[in-house]
Amino acid sequence: MQLLSVTSGYGGSNLSIKGNLKVEENMIAQTQWEVKFIKSLAPPLMAAVVALSPICNTPIATGQTIDIQRGSTLFGQACIGCHVGGGNITQPGATLYEKDLQRNGVDTEEEIYRVTYYGKGRMPGFGKECMPRGQCTFGARLEAEDIKLLASFVKLQAEQGWPSIETQGD
Ligand code: HEC
Repeated sequence: MQLLSVTSGYGGSNLSIKGNLKVEENMIAQTQWEVKFIKSLAPPLMAAVVALSPICNTPIATGQTIDIQRGSTLFGQACIGCHVGGGNITQPGATLYEKDLQRNGVDTEEEIYRVTYYGKGRMPGFGKECMPRGQCTFGARLEAEDIKLLASFVKLQAEQGWPSIETQGD
């Protein structure tokens, strides 16, 4: 408002400045209203909004592109037997959901890579040089590159609540 009175001596340009200020004022008012509105949402609904929003964000938004399609195919071939839907059929406390990964200290791509490469407990390692043998998968081993992709894939899926794995792999 102070600005308005200061500018009101500059003839013709005066009008448009006023107009701009008005628009800006409206935008601020609207933003404040939105903040109020968001704050007034019930906490559970707010949690849902926060939880759901990353699904709309493609990985590209974070500057990282991962081949979800290939990750999902690999996961369907090697992991889904025990981790269908990101769960864990043999060890319910060690799912691939964020809260378990965090609790078990496997919530970084490096750790997911390590567990997938070398195995852990009843989880067989899939790395080409996984040792000792007893800890490693009997079947085909995975390339380090594929394990890296799987680690990014698992991490991303965990953050998003496993949206890409609903069907069994072929
Ligand atoms: C034969 C069943 C089996 C298969 C196949 C399997 N896992 Fe696991 N996985 C497990 C078990 C059991 C654990 C829990 C190990 C532990 O904590 O002792 C586990 C744990 C994990 C964890 C850590 C989870 C946590 O919350 O601590 C990750 C990450 C993981 N697996 C990724 C994979 C990936 C990626 C694949 C596919 C390449 C895969 N797993 C295939 C059985 C399996």
